[in-house]
Amino acid sequence: MADTNDTVTIATGEGTSGTTLLGIGAYRPRRVVSNEQICETIDSTSEWIYERSGILNRHVAEPDETIVSMSSEAAKKAVTSAGIDPEVVDAVIVCTSTNWTQVPHAAPQVATDLGRNGIAAFDLTAGCAGFGYGLAVATNMIRGGGARYVVVVGVEKMSDGIDYSDRNTSFIFGDGAGAVVVGPSETNDISPVVWGSDGEKGDAIRQTKDFKQYVDEVDAAAADGRDEAVIQPFLTMDGSKVFRWAAVQVSKVCAQTLETAGVTAEQIQAFIPHQANGRINSAMAKHLGLSESVAIANDIEQTGNTSAASIPLAMEAMLRDGEAEPGQVALCIGFGAGLSYAGQVVRLPAAPPAA
Ligand code: UT7
Repeated sequence: MADTNDTVTIATGEGTSGTTLLGIGAYRPRRVVSNEQICETIDSTSEWIYERSGILNRHVAEPDETIVSMSSEAAKKAVTSAGIDPEVVDAVIVCTSTNWTQVPHAAPQVATDLGRNGIAAFDLTAGCAGFGYGLAVATNMIRGGGARYVVVVGVEKMSDGIDYSDRNTSFIFGDGAGAVVVGPSETNDISPVVWGSDGEKGDAIRQTKDFKQYVDEVDAAAADGRDEAVIQPFLTMDGSKVFRWAAVQVSKVCAQTLETAGVTAEQIQAFIPHQANGRINSAMAKHLGLSESVAIANDIEQTGNTSAASIPLAMEAMLRDGEAEPGQVALCIGFGAGLSYAGQVVRLPAAPPAA
């Protein structure tokens, strides 16, 4: 066995303990699809959808609106809103579950679009909690010295994997991208994350089949000379199971997040939960005892559930519409597939640039 070399000292990273959200940007696909249009392919009504979910419209991306293009647009706006030289951005994290291309992953292409070819860039998948996970990783990278200015994008093209004849899922999901710039700060504006997962409930939100099964079915049909269409993998969800988990378990995570941040419910000025269901958001706000004056994100009404993109999109909408102000203290909570969750208290960034 080789001798150990005890005389070598390996340097630790030199980071900054304080981190902050510097800027925010969003990309919402051009095409808006109403509840009425959704009801053309399912047995439902716009009233039922609005009452049960809080959704009226959602954006659905067209073929040229890809994970990379939507991310790049949102990221560029976030850098503009941050007021930094794009040259200082030294990492990009793209949080998504819906990039059709696994190789190459999206983030290096987004970095190139930002004019930062060559920097650290990677994708991260944690379902609808993806943005919170990405924000936690970015914050810890800055604290540990791995990077100074990190662009974190939450982006989804959910429409590619939705069966528009399935009335359990077709009305819920939408497409879009939201991005923030995270950087070092003398004061701290982003709390430690409270995160976790429950793989035992993983089946509650899943694909109907994996891509290998799909390819095998296509091959088998071709070998047998059958010309019927093989059905692609679609997203399926046990809505009421996820609803109960979110309203009960994730509400407790919200309270733990406040405790970890050392912030009381009375000090919260904005509440930005994952936009899964307006009724879940109200249940969480009630559980926390948030006062009437707290601004509660309601981007779901016009944007639907955009999974990992929903928190930065909702934050952007609140700042753009003046429902919340830069510098205010906000509680963010992401939750969904995995099942997984991530909560943080943050100080809100500068307003997004005008569209
Ligand atoms: O982003 C990831 C995290 N996701 C979530 O957190 C989603 C959580 N879940 C939800 O948001 C809700 O469960 C839904 C909005 C998906 C559904 O609302 P719900 O109040 O939980 O409805 P349900 O599934 O319990 O169904 C109630 C009834 C059923 O009929 P019966 O059995 O009572 O006769 C359904 O068959 O509503 C029926 N139904 C519909 N009716 C009209 C289900 N879907 C529809 C529909 N239109 N689209």
